[in-house]
Amino acid sequence: MLWAARGCFLLWLLPSILRARASPETRPSSPLCQQSPTKVSCKGVGLRKFPKELGQGIKYLELSNNFIQNLSGSNMPGFGQLEYLDVCFNQLETVSATALAQLPRLRSLLLASNHLDRNYLANGEAFHLLRNIEVLDLSVNNLESHMASWYISNLTSLRVLDLSGNMMTKLLAGTFRNSPRLRQLDLSHNYIMEIQEGAFEPLEELEVLNLALNSLHCISGFSLTQLQVLNLSHNALELFSSKEGAEPYLLRVLDLSHNRLLSFPELPRAHELTHLNLSNNLIASLLPGSPHPREFVLLYKEMQRFNSTVRPMAALTRVADLDLSNNHLELFPFSFFHSLGSLHRLSLAGNCLQDVARESVSNGTELSVRSLDLHSNALRVLPRWFFDSLPHLESMDLGSNSLQPCEGQGSDQGKDLGRDSHTSTPGDTCTPFYNVPRLKHLSLSKNSISRLQPHAFSQTPLLSLDLSGNRNLSMATGALGGLELSLQELSLRDNQMDEGQAALPCLGRLRVLDLAGNALSLLPAGLSCSPLESLDIRNNSLQSLATARSWSHSLRAVAVAGNPWSCCSLGWLDTLRVAGVAVPDLHQARCVFQEHGRNISARITGTPSWICPQPKGTTSLVLLVVLIVFSVCVWAFCLLRRGKAPGCARLGSNRVGMSQPHPRGEGPAEERPPDSITKV
Ligand SMILES: *[C@@H]1O[C@H](CO)[C@@H](O)[C@H](O)[C@H]1NC(C)=O
Ligand SMILES: *[C@@H]1O[C@H](CO)[C@@H](O)[C@H](O)[C@H]1NC(C)=O
Ligand SMILES: *[C@@H]1O[C@H](CO)[C@@H](O)[C@H](O)[C@H]1NC(C)=O
Ligand SMILES: *[C@@H]1O[C@H](CO)[C@@H](O)[C@H](O)[C@H]1NC(C)=O
Ligand SMILES: *[C@@H]1O[C@H](CO)[C@@H](O)[C@H](O)[C@H]1NC(C)=O
Ligand SMILES: *[C@@H]1O[C@H](CO)[C@@H](O)[C@H](O)[C@H]1NC(C)=O
Ligand SMILES: *[C@@H]1O[C@H](CO)[C@@H](O)[C@H](O)[C@H]1NC(C)=O
Ligand SMILES: *[C@@H]1O[C@H](CO)[C@@H](O)[C@H](O)[C@H]1NC(C)=O
Ligand SMILES: *[C@@H]1O[C@H](CO)[C@@H](O)[C@H](O)[C@H]1NC(C)=O
Repeated sequence: MLWAARGCFLLWLLPSILRARASPETRPSSPLCQQSPTKVSCKGVGLRKFPKELGQGIKYLELSNNFIQNLSGSNMPGFGQLEYLDVCFNQLETVSATALAQLPRLRSLLLASNHLDRNYLANGEAFHLLRNIEVLDLSVNNLESHMASWYISNLTSLRVLDLSGNMMTKLLAGTFRNSPRLRQLDLSHNYIMEIQEGAFEPLEELEVLNLALNSLHCISGFSLTQLQVLNLSHNALELFSSKEGAEPYLLRVLDLSHNRLLSFPELPRAHELTHLNLSNNLIASLLPGSPHPREFVLLYKEMQRFNSTVRPMAALTRVADLDLSNNHLELFPFSFFHSLGSLHRLSLAGNCLQDVARESVSNGTELSVRSLDLHSNALRVLPRWFFDSLPHLESMDLGSNSLQPCEGQGSDQGKDLGRDSHTSTPGDTCTPFYNVPRLKHLSLSKNSISRLQPHAFSQTPLLSLDLSGNRNLSMATGALGGLELSLQELSLRDNQMDEGQAALPCLGRLRVLDLAGNALSLLPAGLSCSPLESLDIRNNSLQSLATARSWSHSLRAVAVAGNPWSCCSLGWLDTLRVAGVAVPDLHQARCVFQEHGRNISARITGTPSWICPQPKGTTSLVLLVVLIVFSVCVWAFCLLRRGKAPGCARLGSNRVGMSQPHPRGEGPAEERPPDSITKV
């Protein structure tokens, strides 16, 4: 049977496979191509040759993901109007001049992922005919430096060129001599170690240059003043400096992430820079005069300039986004950031910050930072003045540090809580998170906080608070006092808290609550106040969800797996279902029932109802019904024995119909799947 069925299926498929293979050669225009008057797409239809006679006037032709090897004159029909040709992901190795001569209007030619390293001399010569080409993609073609140079050597109209993913090791001086109109150049993912002097000189209109994922060690005398976006990430740069005395730069985005920089790059005239990424480097200090030249692995003659007193920061007044994550900074360099008057987003995550030094801050120094990422450092305390110096702070990630929040004051004493009050930071062992007037998002995840003091965040208008990963955290009553009318999202995940450690006030705005990975056998009482929409209570010790009803008007989703739910009090599931609340992990959830004095765990979705003790009256009724069913079964069985098979079909349905209605309205109860039952 099985073999026969499979054979049929194959035979039924075969004609369409054959058609796919044969079509380009036998039919003028492949039925597998999608065609509109000026646009044809034959993507991935198994073509081995250029399709013939697609009709006149086609401007846009897409042939990607096929097996085309040659673009030669003999098989090229009239494509006089063609402007856009995509032959990416083919086997292309030969492009003839006669073919390209027939494409006088071609503007965009996409040839990524082919074999244009083969026959590159002849192909390149043919390319010289592409006078009007503006967009050329030659990425991933195994091209070496000289091959790439040859291909583009006469393309004077080129605006966008992609040479990424090739085998280039250097940029030759004359490569772009004839492409002065180039605006976007992608050289990423090559092996470029050397840029010959003057290689970029002809490119006076270049705006976007991608040199990411190469092997450059040093950029000095950077002088592409018209460039707007420069990506040098994932190289081996130890030094980046721009040319002295050059005119102002137009650079807006500079990505120097994933290099080996030891110091902040020298950018004295980059007035337009807004986005600077220095993440994943080796910068240990931002103080002037560092690093010392002996810290470099290689020595460059340009290094003597570090001796000069140029303040590289002086001009970076527009930088809004600065990423210094994953470097080696030990001190929060306050005064350094002060010169960045537009800084909005600052990341110092993954450094070795232990302290913020007051000495470096003069009175009244304020940073414009709104979002500050300090996660994964070694901070033990942040003083009051630190928050006072960040008056615009809205979002702060302090995860994976060792900060302990101070006790704040309740609303009755609120009047005394001046911004300069130091009364509640005794000995500076804790951090005052209260009274930070604009802070809305705070993460204190994984800080080994063992006890959250009362009113720790009072008068700080938090919308979201992450306290996850603080094992054995204990929250005193009113620890979240003051957040009653603001807090919308709270995470207490993976804290191993029991119900005595998790006291919540009445949080009247709380929408999202994550309590997964605790030891709760009851949900915090205060929660019935909250208009919860999303609740995660996985991996706790809950047996029932008695409070489900109070959220039935607001709740949209609840995750429940990993709790020892009681199989015989699952009424809360009904409540949720009636309210239309999604329980996406119900199929993983298990419940516990007792049988012969032992606790047995079963899947909630596969639990039969007979396991639960029934009220007295119904029990005898059930017994009666079961008895009747049994007799009917025996009778039917006898009939069957006598060859009256049709009765059998009803036998099954009869029995199911007689079993108790499922308490959760799932229809007939199923047998316990054997694998879902374990003794506990
Ligand atoms: C492609 O062109 C080469 C040389 O021009 C020729 O030897 C080869 O047969 C052609 N291949 C196809 C599939 O046309
Ligand atoms: C480059 O193009 C010019 C015309 O734009 C042409 O005269 C010249 O011969 C071409 N050079 C090569 C090497 O094909
Ligand atoms: C720079 O290139 C890397 C690697 O391709 C990429 O991940 C990153 O997003 C790019 N940076 C910018 C600013 O585009
Ligand atoms: C900086 O680069 C890193 C790594 O490439 C990336 O993860 C991060 O998002 C970038 N930062 C910004 C602000 O773009
Ligand atoms: C550093 O600067 C001083 C004076 O400004 C000069 O005498 C000295 O030669 C410089 N050192 C180097 C290594 O250039
Ligand atoms: C800083 O301000 C405090 C008062 O807030 C004042 O006592 C102190 O002298 C000031 N320090 C400096 C260096 O201006
Ligand atoms: C958790 O904290 C309580 C005090 O809050 C302490 O008695 C208990 O030993 C701690 N448990 C663990 C496992 O650290
Ligand atoms: C729940 O516990 C299981 C088993 O320990 C674990 O694999 C899973 O990631 C936990 N899920 C959550 C949300 O804590
Ligand atoms: C069965 O579970 C209940 C409630 O979880 C518990 O009180 C009881 O000790 C358990 N009984 C056995 C035999 O494990």
